[in-house]
Amino acid sequence: MAKLWAGRTDGTISEVADDFNASIGFDRRLFREDIEGSIAHAKMLAAVGVLSADEAEAIVLGLTGILTDLSEGVLAIDPEAEDIHTFVEQTLTARIGEAGKKLHTARSRNDQVALDMRMYVRASIDTISQKTATLCAAICDVAEANRGVIMSGYTHLQRAQPILFAHHLMAYCMMFLRDISRLADCRTRLNVSPIGSCALAGTTYPIDRRYEADLLGFDSVAANSIDGVSDRDYLVELLSALSLVMVHLSRLAEELILWSSWEFGYIRLSDRFTTGSSIMPQKKNADMAELCRGKTGRVFGDLTAMLTVLKGLPLAYNKDMQEDKECTFDAIDTVTMCLDVCAPMIRSMEVRSDRMAEAAKQGFINATDLADYLVCKGMPFRTAYRVVGGIVADCTKAGLTLEELTLAQYKTYSELFDEDVY
Ligand code: ARG
Repeated sequence: MAKLWAGRTDGTISEVADDFNASIGFDRRLFREDIEGSIAHAKMLAAVGVLSADEAEAIVLGLTGILTDLSEGVLAIDPEAEDIHTFVEQTLTARIGEAGKKLHTARSRNDQVALDMRMYVRASIDTISQKTATLCAAICDVAEANRGVIMSGYTHLQRAQPILFAHHLMAYCMMFLRDISRLADCRTRLNVSPIGSCALAGTTYPIDRRYEADLLGFDSVAANSIDGVSDRDYLVELLSALSLVMVHLSRLAEELILWSSWEFGYIRLSDRFTTGSSIMPQKKNADMAELCRGKTGRVFGDLTAMLTVLKGLPLAYNKDMQEDKECTFDAIDTVTMCLDVCAPMIRSMEVRSDRMAEAAKQGFINATDLADYLVCKGMPFRTAYRVVGGIVADCTKAGLTLEELTLAQYKTYSELFDEDVY
């Protein structure tokens, strides 16, 4: 495919440089945003009189046809094109002739790609927020269905105090609700149209940036054209919000893995969300949860890659910025897959309340309540804490639980103990 930029040179570059330079292999997924952006651009150019109504109509019809053909698989994206912007523009000109060559008036690929990415990320945030809400709904339903189930809560992974299983699960809901609100913040800040920034310096054409921004659902337009083409802060915000989604999924996954082990036995994951071993016939492995935990590192890596691309990058556009795409797409795809697998995995797990109750009986998790009992009878907390610590030490030696001590035995520790301790 001929280069858009042939002119200053004849556009032939070495094959290895051409492959190295091309982004079509990954920015092809921006075709919808690119075409919708171009349709709005043509409409705006006609509205301000830069294009005639006929030219704009030919462009809009041509672009709409390309979008339909790409969506229906009738038209294939040429892997030889440099990038998606080149492919769409050249396909348009091949289909409608001279008018197609006017589409790029008052526009650069620099503001075009910035627009496409903002639109793509905006839609991805909506999808990911929706999927995060679906996961929250699954967690709420499992919590609701197991309202009365008691388990031991943990600190330091040691049994700590009795809690409701639902209470523990709902802690994850709180994390995911914060994730949704972080994504919404990012969406608000990114919803600024860079169009009109052109290469970096704006344009002398009498364009109407607000009209074009309105057509594409943006709240405002970039206040500074150099920032308009250089800003990738919203990608850092997105990748950081997605990293936190993965942190939360990974913590949840870790608990599901622990809880489904023989040692805990608190839950059974559905067969549909586990795998077996090729050698050990008895195995049932929590591979999906492990993969969620494992894939977290990829998303952290994506965030680090993005930050590193931006660090020390001079204004305005530099080709380094093409590197913003693969990490963003990878993080979006990874989080999407993990959310898609976690919601039904949680929904279908079996909660073993008997195992939780059994474990809650061991480990003196009612010791704090016993200390509080003495406090209610008038003992200072620090003293009560020491008395109960002594009781636990003695019970441990004797192989007894706190419930098994007789009142007479309790009285040897403090006269404040009475029948109501039980
Ligand atoms: N493929 C390029 C990117 O993703 C598009 C912008 C190209 N701009 C340029 N000045 N070469 O960044």
